Amino acid sequence: MNILRFQTEQLLNEAAAGIFTALVQTNPRAVLGLATGGTPVGIYKELINAYEQGKVSFKEVTTFNLDEYANLDANHEQSYAYYMREKLFAHVDIQQSNIHIPNGKAADLHAESKAYDAKLNEVGHIDLQLLGLGHNGHIGFNEPADHLQNGTHVVTLAEETIQANARFFNSTDEVPKEAITMGVGSILKAHTLMLVVKGADKAEIVHRALRGPITTQCPASLLQTHPRLLVLVDEEAGRLLV
Ligand code: GLP
Repeated sequence: MNILRFQTEQLLNEAAAGIFTALVQTNPRAVLGLATGGTPVGIYKELINAYEQGKVSFKEVTTFNLDEYANLDANHEQSYAYYMREKLFAHVDIQQSNIHIPNGKAADLHAESKAYDAKLNEVGHIDLQLLGLGHNGHIGFNEPADHLQNGTHVVTLAEETIQANARFFNSTDEVPKEAITMGVGSILKAHTLMLVVKGADKAEIVHRALRGPITTQCPASLLQTHPRLLVLVDEEAGRLLV
């Protein structure tokens, strides 16, 4: 595992975007695994900058998003489909047909999960997977549990996750209680993982995830087993990582 520390959030965002940009420059047909939440917003801004400056094209790139809320329409402002459109896709030259996000509105979410895995299998593997970290150690929406799942599946969100994400909705009641997420097996299949963690409130959980025991009770701890794990932290989040 390689841990990179940054003095400012902006420096971290530029470095993370630079790694994605370099990959796409060398492999224009790269398969990127993308994440949502507050953490990647600045990274996506930097990717848009790189595109606008003519440094990179996303025309041949394929993307897979980690997760999506169940029962939110893709046009709902808090859906991850909407988020991705607003924060990245609408501003670059990626082809709509190369974008993959689980459909949280599918009539049969289990069938949707299977179909998502089939598409992932078709491309083989994700070249570079971006990951944020939940306060309870979740990755994607893989919540702490006695057992974790390999492939894409439907999850019931932990109360802590619902509370954490309530800031994006009008009230806690509006936060969906279920989601579809890629499984830890699919995440770990990526060639390279980039875990990005920002802020003092994540210092303890990132320490537990990377230095604590490998346990399903902290899904991010499984990342320790990956041979190419790149961790980008700001000073606050990296405080306990020695
Ligand atoms: C969300 C997402 C995760 C994200 C995490 C942290 O619920 N499902 O993919 O990484 O929680 O979010 P944030 O970056 O807003 O702290």
